[in-house]
Amino acid sequence: MRSFAIATAAAMFVTSASAVDPRDFEADLNLPGFHFVPYPFDWQNDPNGPLYDPVHDKYHLFYQYQTPRLWGHAVSDDLVNWVQMPVALTTDQWYDQGGVFSGSGTVLDDEEQSVILTISSSDNTEIFVAIPADRSDPFLTEWVLPDSNPIYTTNARDPTEIMKTSDGRYRIADGTAEGTAMWECMDCETAADIISGGKWTQIGMYQTKPEGQGYWECPDTFPLLGEDAIEGTWVSKFSMSGDRYYLGTYNETSGEFAPYDLEDRMYDTNGAFYASKTFLDSKDDNRRVLWGWLISGKPEGSEWTGLQSAPRILEAAADGKSIKMVPIPELKSLRRDDEKAHYENLSGNGDDAKELEFTGRMFDVEAIIGGDGAGDKCGFRVLWDGADEHTDIEIPTGAKSIRMLVDSSVIELFADGAATTTFGTVTKAESVKFGLLGDCVFESIDAWGMNPYEYDASNVL
Ligand SMILES: *[C@@H]1O[C@H](CO)[C@@H](O)[C@H](O)[C@H]1NC(C)=O
Ligand SMILES: *[C@@H]1O[C@H](CO)[C@@H](O)[C@H](O)[C@H]1NC(C)=O
Repeated sequence: MRSFAIATAAAMFVTSASAVDPRDFEADLNLPGFHFVPYPFDWQNDPNGPLYDPVHDKYHLFYQYQTPRLWGHAVSDDLVNWVQMPVALTTDQWYDQGGVFSGSGTVLDDEEQSVILTISSSDNTEIFVAIPADRSDPFLTEWVLPDSNPIYTTNARDPTEIMKTSDGRYRIADGTAEGTAMWECMDCETAADIISGGKWTQIGMYQTKPEGQGYWECPDTFPLLGEDAIEGTWVSKFSMSGDRYYLGTYNETSGEFAPYDLEDRMYDTNGAFYASKTFLDSKDDNRRVLWGWLISGKPEGSEWTGLQSAPRILEAAADGKSIKMVPIPELKSLRRDDEKAHYENLSGNGDDAKELEFTGRMFDVEAIIGGDGAGDKCGFRVLWDGADEHTDIEIPTGAKSIRMLVDSSVIELFADGAATTTFGTVTKAESVKFGLLGDCVFESIDAWGMNPYEYDASNVL
């Protein structure tokens, strides 16, 4: 095994007393405060290998970072506040020279609760794994690539986490030009067998894509949870011009998913949300938490490009035939008590927004729409103060329960669980306001200013 010589002594002794937050929100008016941005600022895309480590009670987020792509790494106690870790995976093997591309993270149910990252090469041929150098390090700072890598050679990318069948076999799905392929380790009984070179074979397709679709990237294959979930329902999610999914059943014997229907459904109706990845959060009653890459340009005067979405809980919608999502409740811990407003029974003002007094830069809005819900033209106008520019966000017809997260340059809207993410056109504003559009009565609106997350980047300074 080879080990990366990237861990610093400081990384092993993170304490809040030495926390250093390098963000300057006045110098960068586009910088979001509660959407994850890595430090040092640079390019960021797909979330990779999100996981909850029950041994140390910590969450880990990895993400595509810099060029060529590496795996950045951040650790959190609550999915809200972050400790920036050194880069977890860098290019130093024959199979990762073009970059360490997307993959997933697994915590196995063995005695050690082994952690294994599954990763793809930049040319879609090698799937490889990484393990913590020291399982007892609470921050899992340093990662090693076993000599048996790659674990298999293929024509695919973006491996899922390692899934265990009910009779103890290990499987990985990956994204291909034909759809989502399913692989199984034929002689792996333990984590050690996976790491020491167990033989993987493609046993078939999880789902063959319908004709005419492009490459299916970033597959996510998991049982759908939630009160309204139809027993035995699985998700087949893939990324292809947005994050799309089918619901259906999974035959564990054949490894095949059978969709209930082929209706085109998206996680988030705006193309700004992509390459998402879920993980099973066993800390909180096995909820399924979703991260997505929010595709942004590099804002003028900023050094960062791309955000992670607010973590979302993904579960079955009321009809059981689609999914809904809401931001994780932990985000409410960033709400400010000294910056809040409450409004009742306000209606929009046609195409001329009714501007509210509330002013923030990072804020969280909850609204209830009365009657039959949002009419044909109902929405919010987000106004960038002093810039004479605005971004209109439409609320889908019929929606009643609305949540809007506004974070400097990004707006995430949740309407009865349907999500849409938008970047503001002009964002260089010290403060942001919002107004009401169109034909609907907002029975109540609550708005809170948000604090930026607590951020300790001392490991990389
Ligand atoms: C599941 O797959 C196996 C193997 O292909 C097949 O024998 C079985 O009939 C399938 N089960 C269902 C419910 O389709
Ligand atoms: C808003 O409308 C509801 C229902 O008509 C009413 O009960 C409530 O008092 C109104 N609130 C205000 C502040 O006018």
